[in-house]
Amino acid sequence: MKTFILLILTVLIGWIGPDADSVSFALDEGGCLTCHRFPGLVRHEKDGGFKVLHIDEVKYARSAHGKTDCRQCHIRVTKVPHTGETTVNCNTQCHLKVKEKDRIKNFPLKSIHKKEQSFITRLDDESACRVCHPLYPHSDNKLVRALLNMHTGFMLCEVCHLKKENLADYTFAWNDTENATFSGEPFGTYYNPKTTKAQTSEHFISRIAVFAKNKGLITDSEDIPKAKEFLQKEKNMSADQKAKALDFFHRHIAKKEISVACDECHSKHSILDFRHLGFDAKKTHNLMVLNIKGLVTKYETFYFPQMLRP
Ligand code: HEC
Ligand code: HEC
Ligand code: HEC
Ligand code: HEC
Ligand code: HEC
Repeated sequence: MKTFILLILTVLIGWIGPDADSVSFALDEGGCLTCHRFPGLVRHEKDGGFKVLHIDEVKYARSAHGKTDCRQCHIRVTKVPHTGETTVNCNTQCHLKVKEKDRIKNFPLKSIHKKEQSFITRLDDESACRVCHPLYPHSDNKLVRALLNMHTGFMLCEVCHLKKENLADYTFAWNDTENATFSGEPFGTYYNPKTTKAQTSEHFISRIAVFAKNKGLITDSEDIPKAKEFLQKEKNMSADQKAKALDFFHRHIAKKEISVACDECHSKHSILDFRHLGFDAKKTHNLMVLNIKGLVTKYETFYFPQMLRP
């Protein structure tokens, strides 16, 4: 038990360590922003819509509740993945008087963080993947789906999903800019940092892609017409025909094991050369030692240490 608590503390301290200066804006003793401060952190809902889980730390700090610890309202968030997290209580330490309770009675709670959230609403990406899959495509794994979805804002699907063993020689580099629209604040890299081809308009985004030596960008854009045709004919296809067609579209695609996926990039042996891609030394270090990946790969459930709670 002792070693378990020690392990957790190490993870937690490691966590706060490298990012300390960027988390110093808001009161965040619970460490919630360690995970929630990333634009594009998005999760699907059963009704087909999605829920934005991003909370911008600067905007939060400037909001009416900027000095309120997240856990004063989110009383049930004590472990990751969270359970009962939608239970919000506005009266733990504030709004205690009857008059004040009345005043906030009709407050639209669902939109309380709206101004603190950013995500991509449209991305004109020239691939067949995107004919069939949404930009935020992950929904299965509760622990990582939102974090994986966030990555599609800075890399093409192929960077993670390509069967690379079939490729002789390849590199990772920034692709040309794509048109994008955002809800909230534009984010990401909206120019090609390698060629510094200036596209600084906020309606563009640049993402990391796989390039084959002498062949250029690896994309499945030549499948776009067939993918559109598939969507039209899908209803009348037998299960067998469908499976065959999907095998074709996924012929170069592998589903990733989550246990190895994060380490492929966020480690000393990263397949991405962060420096070469243009990340500075500090960001490169942070990306290599990224500590939330420990939570994702080592623990099924992570409990916030009781002793650190108020
Ligand atoms: C280790 C990363 C991590 C930390 C730390 C973390 N969260 Fe989360 N949180 C997530 C992820 C990932 C999701 C999305 C889960 C999903 O896809 O259903 C989430 C979802 C949520 C949701 C939405 C839940 C829902 O189902 O509607 C709330 C609210 C929330 N977190 C609040 C908090 C608060 C408050 C804290 C701090 C006490 C916190 N989180 C700390 C990763 C984290
Ligand atoms: C004043 C109370 C209050 C504080 C403080 C607060 N939240 Fe919330 N939060 C809410 C309410 C209310 C909701 C909406 C719940 C619902 O949909 O029923 C919410 C929703 C969320 C969601 C789900 C996404 C969404 O917009 O519905 C996340 C993630 C979240 N909060 C994280 C945080 C984090 C991280 C902090 C601290 C930086 C924080 N909250 C501070 C009241 C608060
Ligand atoms: C013609 C439509 C179509 C195209 C094009 C397409 N997909 Fe899919 N994909 C699907 C459907 C439908 C499923 C769900 C299949 C199932 O449930 O068996 C799926 C499943 C997947 C899975 C999960 C596989 C698994 O084993 O669970 C991954 C990963 C994936 N697609 C990635 C991609 C990527 C990356 C591209 C582009 C290179 C792409 N897909 C192109 C329709 C498509
Ligand atoms: C940062 C790496 C990364 C990127 C980028 C990425 N994926 Fe994934 N994807 C994964 C991993 C890891 C899994 C396996 C997750 C698990 O174990 O549930 C996965 C699983 C999937 C699945 C099946 C499971 C699910 O959650 O529905 C689909 C479908 C999928 N990816 C489609 C895509 C498409 C389409 C794109 C591009 C728009 C994309 N992915 C970009 C890493 C990535
Ligand atoms: C194919 C490489 C790749 C894989 C696989 C990958 N990441 Fe990343 N990740 C990146 C890159 C590149 C960035 C930085 C993007 C940027 O800031 O422009 C990043 C950024 C992040 C960030 C934000 C860090 C920060 O300080 O800005 C988090 C958190 C993160 N990844 C978590 C994960 C987790 C968890 C997994 C596994 C589920 C994972 N990543 C898998 C490449 C990857």
